[in-house]
Amino acid sequence: MQITHLSLTNFRNYARLELAMPPGMVVLYGDNAQGKTSLLEAVYYLATSRSQHTTSDRQLINWLVENDPLPFARLVAELNTREGLKRVEVTLVKEQSGRAERFKKEIRVNGVSRRVMDLLGQITVVMFLPQDLSLIEGSPTLRRRYLDITLCQIDSTYCHALNQYNRVLTQRNALLRQLQAHGGRGDQSQLLFWDEKLARDGATIVAGRYKLVRDLERRAQRIHHDLSDANEHLRLRYHPGLDANVSGDGQMAFDPADLGSDALPHLPPPEIASRFHDQLQARRRDDLARGQTTIGPQRDEMRFLVNGHDLGLYGSRGQNRTAVLALKLAELEWMREKSGEWPILLLDEVAAELDTHRRGYLLDRISDAEQVLLTTTEPYLLPLASFDGAAQRHVEGGHITVSET
Ligand SMILES: Nc1ncnc2c1ncn2[C@@H]1O[C@H](COP(=O)(O)OP(=O)(O)OP(=O)(O)O)[C@@H](O)[C@H]1O
Ligand SMILES: [Mg+2]
Repeated sequence: MQITHLSLTNFRNYARLELAMPPGMVVLYGDNAQGKTSLLEAVYYLATSRSQHTTSDRQLINWLVENDPLPFARLVAELNTREGLKRVEVTLVKEQSGRAERFKKEIRVNGVSRRVMDLLGQITVVMFLPQDLSLIEGSPTLRRRYLDITLCQIDSTYCHALNQYNRVLTQRNALLRQLQAHGGRGDQSQLLFWDEKLARDGATIVAGRYKLVRDLERRAQRIHHDLSDANEHLRLRYHPGLDANVSGDGQMAFDPADLGSDALPHLPPPEIASRFHDQLQARRRDDLARGQTTIGPQRDEMRFLVNGHDLGLYGSRGQNRTAVLALKLAELEWMREKSGEWPILLLDEVAAELDTHRRGYLLDRISDAEQVLLTTTEPYLLPLASFDGAAQRHVEGGHITVSET
């Protein structure tokens, strides 16, 4: 797929942007702090309704309108897709409810109002960021989020289950806290109702994540083999947070030596649901004591291993870079296969982040992509020979101009 036109209003440092976008490679170059990353972020936000750079939507709205009575930001993309022309629009509006401020998202696809959940999958993207390394080195939350965003772009059933699960988990935890406050006394029958739902949607999540990790592993292994020393063998391991492996302090007792013990996700989803349900009953007393749900996909983990050694614990910077690049390229391949077309590729500062070999390999693998938006401060350092007529756009202070060079 390909974006033909992008409009931004009050998004980050773009007060107003109308940008026609050519297919193929589009190099966005400019000095630091001019709006290169923000442009990729806008496209990513249109695809996923999230930002990789912030946890609060407030930060996305242009500072200059912050004090308006009802500040808003609007993002609109016109696209050429396999299914034909498409127009995707997201408006972010601040709502004041009492003292608290909230940001509401209004979605329109081809002019028709849609739910936020229905936005996912309209535009598919794969983003390469300098901070992707944190997928290996950072917290499990980042890895779960990665799996969820990847799956949600392709699988609406998964996304629906995930939404439901999170909602029910919040409610169950609130009830547990309430019961905890009364020393466990009170009506526990409501818990049974939540457990049923939690187990069903949780099983969909576990089965989905398991299958994705396996699919990614197969592809990433091949790519990793090309990229690294032939002696290095990459593995991706998924550890569902449903096992009895939960230690006394409620944390996943992750033991790298204990790989291969996760029989659960191999099972069909109804069977996973039934075991999850049993475990919820078995752990009821613990959950009540803690005032929270101590097992479930909210405690899932994914680990990267090279020759059996956990990269999160032992990997060198270079090894981790290679593994994460292999993962992202595997994701790209997976997404192409599932959606039947190229996702839009968003490459932030890959020139600065990758060495010549990895950079060349990456650009080579994406040379047929329908559209690549690539940012750089140094356009002349990029080996763009494989991209016929790469377009160059100059980014400066929230404005974009067609480059003469
Ligand atoms: N809500 C906002 N309103 C206005 N400006 C913002 C907002 N959020 C961030 N900015 C500013 O927008 C500018 C552009 O940021 P961006 O990350 O897009 O820069 P960049 O071109 O990618 O720079 P670099 O080369 O350093 O990565 C920065 O100066 C940033 O502080
Ligand atoms: Mg940047």
